[in-house]
Amino acid sequence: MARRRTAILISGRGTNMAALIEAARDPSYPAEIAVVISNIASAKGLEIAEAAGIKTLAISNKYYSTKTVFEEQILKALSESRIELVCLAGFMRVLSASFISHFEGRILNIHPSLLPAYRGLDTHKRALADGVKDHGCTVHFVVPELDAGPVIAQAIVPVLDGDTEETLSARVLIAENRLYPEALAKVAASLAPL
Ligand code: GAR
Repeated sequence: MARRRTAILISGRGTNMAALIEAARDPSYPAEIAVVISNIASAKGLEIAEAAGIKTLAISNKYYSTKTVFEEQILKALSESRIELVCLAGFMRVLSASFISHFEGRILNIHPSLLPAYRGLDTHKRALADGVKDHGCTVHFVVPELDAGPVIAQAIVPVLDGDTEETLSARVLIAENRLYPEALAKVAASLAPL
């Protein structure tokens, strides 16, 4: 079985990226991580990926005058690495419709809420403020509208009495790190050849 060449885009600490890299060490996993790209050169995740022997690139949005030029640099890097699937893992830039059209149905994102609830930022804080009983995380396909694409997989994380943003986000993160490798495997295994 051909393993689908996958890029991971990050901006920070990279725990979800690390979970995907770990899963893809198994030769029977249907995706291989070919490159990790960060828009923040100092992102901790880049060090983790390098230590795991993965090709890394820092493409800083700050160096480019427009979003179009920044995205062109990423597209060039993806093309050079012959990438078939893209996983956003804590990548904190909103991709343009034009960028997304190059990888229609091939860009995944992980989001720390049970979408469609709590799109955007501060998801844990908002869930606690609303007093919801169930929170969690979602892996979904990326479409131009933020956090609105078709859901691939979700994990529910119950909110406990006395939860703070820190305790709740820590439990959701554990669920994220488990969910993302399962979701990528599902998509990679069913992807039509390019
Ligand atoms: C994760 O909680 C992820 O769901 C969130 O950023 C964190 C990245 O952590 N993503 C978003 O909020 C995207 N809108 P990580 O760098 O340890 O994977």
